[in-house]
Amino acid sequence: MAQTHAGRASLDKQPGEVAAMFDGVAKRYDLTNTVISAGQDRYWRWATRKALGLRPGERVLDLAAGTGVSTLEFGKSGAWCVATDFSKGMLAAGRFRNVPMVAGDAMALPFADDSFDAVTISYGLRNVSDPDLALREMLRVTKPGGRLVVAEFSTPIFPVFRTLYMEYLMKTLPRVARAVSSNPDAYVYLAESIRAWPNQRQLAMRIAKAGWSTVKWRNLSGGVVALHRGYKLG
Ligand SMILES: C[S@@+](CC[C@H](N)C(=O)[O-])C[C@H]1O[C@@H](n2cnc3c(N)ncnc32)[C@H](O)[C@@H]1O
Repeated sequence: MAQTHAGRASLDKQPGEVAAMFDGVAKRYDLTNTVISAGQDRYWRWATRKALGLRPGERVLDLAAGTGVSTLEFGKSGAWCVATDFSKGMLAAGRFRNVPMVAGDAMALPFADDSFDAVTISYGLRNVSDPDLALREMLRVTKPGGRLVVAEFSTPIFPVFRTLYMEYLMKTLPRVARAVSSNPDAYVYLAESIRAWPNQRQLAMRIAKAGWSTVKWRNLSGGVVALHRGYKLG
């Protein structure tokens, strides 16, 4: 059985543990992200908005939205975006952003079939205990012809960079998190969960298996992050 540490979820990702861990990091979540990514998080969110190709008036679900920082970015397109997350602490920490928020579990979404023009999830799918079920739920709530964008940490493509990055994840990142985060242990989980996550091709296959078509990906920052896109057949 996986070991659980105070303030940190184990890799079997029990939903209660994951929600409690994010409640614990919520207070300084946005700041910690910007520090540990050396400011790249802003570029990744901008690139995610571009990949979504949103138009004014469209309805968008930002799933596992946390504090709504990406929801706000997507709203710049003129689309109507709702943030959904099962950590009430994360949603509460982002309430000042004034984006629509609905508490809900990615594995049993509180939305009707065919509700959204686009569904997106940033750095959330890796934390869901059954990502395949979440991908099927996202498909269910997307309108026929609608699209999915998954932004997630991935596998750097250049071997030397990959080795240095893994060193950073396992050694430096927990130390940096200790200086800025309200729950540094959670960043040990972050490093472990990134290492255990499928690479670009494997994730594309899982997205396609969940029923999405024309699945493609694009690497950001040399593959530190990958954006996967798919469509629901019309
Ligand atoms: C790393 S944070 C990402 C937050 C935000 N998308 C961002 O880009 O900053 C991961 C989020 O996934 C949420 N999460 C994990 N499992 C979930 C589930 N089953 N249902 C809803 N949210 C979930 C967590 O509560 C957390 O807020």
